[in-house]
Amino acid sequence: MRIVQMSDIHVGSGLFRPELLSAAIEETNSLQPDLVAVVGDLTMEGYRWEFEEARGYLDRLECENVVVGMGNHDARSVGYRHFEEFFGMRERAVEVPVQEGEAKVVSLDSTKPDLDDGEVGREHYGWLDSEFRDWDRGPKILMIHHHIMAVPGTGRDVNILQDSGDVMAILRELKVDIVLSGHRHVPYVWSISGVRIVHSGTASSMRVRGTMPPSYNVIEFNEESVRITLREPGKGEGEPLASFARAAVTTSEFYPDFDRFVTYDMLPFLKDPTDESSSPPGSS
Ligand SMILES: [Fe+2]
Ligand SMILES: [Fe+2]
Repeated sequence: MRIVQMSDIHVGSGLFRPELLSAAIEETNSLQPDLVAVVGDLTMEGYRWEFEEARGYLDRLECENVVVGMGNHDARSVGYRHFEEFFGMRERAVEVPVQEGEAKVVSLDSTKPDLDDGEVGREHYGWLDSEFRDWDRGPKILMIHHHIMAVPGTGRDVNILQDSGDVMAILRELKVDIVLSGHRHVPYVWSISGVRIVHSGTASSMRVRGTMPPSYNVIEFNEESVRITLREPGKGEGEPLASFARAAVTTSEFYPDFDRFVTYDMLPFLKDPTDESSSPPGSS
């Protein structure tokens, strides 16, 4: 399976560079990935014209499976309404045919209108569980704009996912293979408790930090390994960013039951107090 991960394209920013986005799109088309994951911050201020322009660019992607997620900038100025107009559902689960079967891709909206902070929120936990727990047909992939783990080289950390501990425990419990995130504008990879957390930089803006240039990631899954390559748009084949064994490397065990730490909230209208079976799996 081949994934192109890009994020933080920031159409509408004075620092947006259209030639970088065009190059990233052309290169993506020539890579013929199974999935293009665009992990939020399509815009700068969430304005309609920014979404329209972003859609115009992303329409040039030839891949059949392009999944676009929300970023905090897209939630500014009630921009989520325009997101829905141009890109459809803000969160979704899709099944992507790949060589080894089918990948499950869940794209989750971690934004709050007008805030830079992010949260998954307890009301989403049961959904994540229902999508991932029994999935055995191929890779399990979560797309989420905000960072679960702090990203080095990005200065002081202020917008980390507010419920990152609970989310990490859920991803570990559900054996999620890979998390695709953006937001910090610096490419980085963590592997922790069997979960690989992969950040892309900003694909097409000069809103960069430190020495990291605009970039995107190419991720290759095969039977033995997961390899991630960092590419600068317009600058060739890129450089290796990280590689892992395909099977998650977990050299530790953690013994207490999952639900001693995390419980799943259900939306009130989904609850039936008389029905024990209405509880989602993993709840108690
Ligand atoms: Fe961004
Ligand atoms: Fe962001």
